[in-house]
Amino acid sequence: MAVPAHVAIIMDGNGRWAASRGLPRVAGHREGARAVRRAVEAAIRSGVSWLTIYAFSSENWRRPLGEVLDLTGLLRRYLRTEIAELKANGVRLRFIGDRTRFDRDIQGDLAAAEHDTQRNIRLNLTIALSYGGRAEIAAAARAVVAAALAGQLDPAKLCEEVFEGFLATAGTPDPDLIIRTSGEQRLSNFLLWQSAYAELVFLDVLWPDFNETHFAAALSTYAARERRFGARTG
Ligand code: FPP
Repeated sequence: MAVPAHVAIIMDGNGRWAASRGLPRVAGHREGARAVRRAVEAAIRSGVSWLTIYAFSSENWRRPLGEVLDLTGLLRRYLRTEIAELKANGVRLRFIGDRTRFDRDIQGDLAAAEHDTQRNIRLNLTIALSYGGRAEIAAAARAVVAAALAGQLDPAKLCEEVFEGFLATAGTPDPDLIIRTSGEQRLSNFLLWQSAYAELVFLDVLWPDFNETHFAAALSTYAARERRFGARTG
């Protein structure tokens, strides 16, 4: 079976999971953080080398302050409690997105987590935080213009490969498979450049219920697809 090298996940449905149980939304996010652990374990066991998860979008800052504080609080706790285990499991952590919008202590924890896991090679886990695909592309464009104005880049030589080097995901292979949970079928500003040829799989499970069986089902759907990258075969 063809195993995707890079799986990206849009974790959706925490709020609906909580509402269906008469619980506050934060209960769904808390259970969602447990599902992240299951996804990481499933990725490692399946031989996936890269896992990228969408934990917080640029637009999520517009949620009510209480929910934003719940989400950043969960992130703070996750960073302080999970790092040791991720490290022991050979996971290398990276973060993409505008980290300057988080409190200083969180920014410090993000940098420390990246530093402390930089030698790990079993799974590359990228967590998208305060991330938006268009913002990432606009930031890359700004960096390209700055490099050109500084005489470090010849505009005539700007091709796709060079541009990719300016994205937050530079050095990361494009996702082969993007999974979205909760039945919604859209990308919501996630990895817009990188998803050009990704296979999309939409699962009817709410993120807090996500487990290894769902991960395996998405991988088999992926394996059954014929990927042509725009070329025609036969
Ligand atoms: C989408 O559900 C989920 C989020 C906006 C947050 C994702 C966060 C987690 C899974 C937990 C924290 C993760 C880490 C890495 C600490 P929603 O709230 O949009 O659900 P709804 O569409 O049902 O309302």
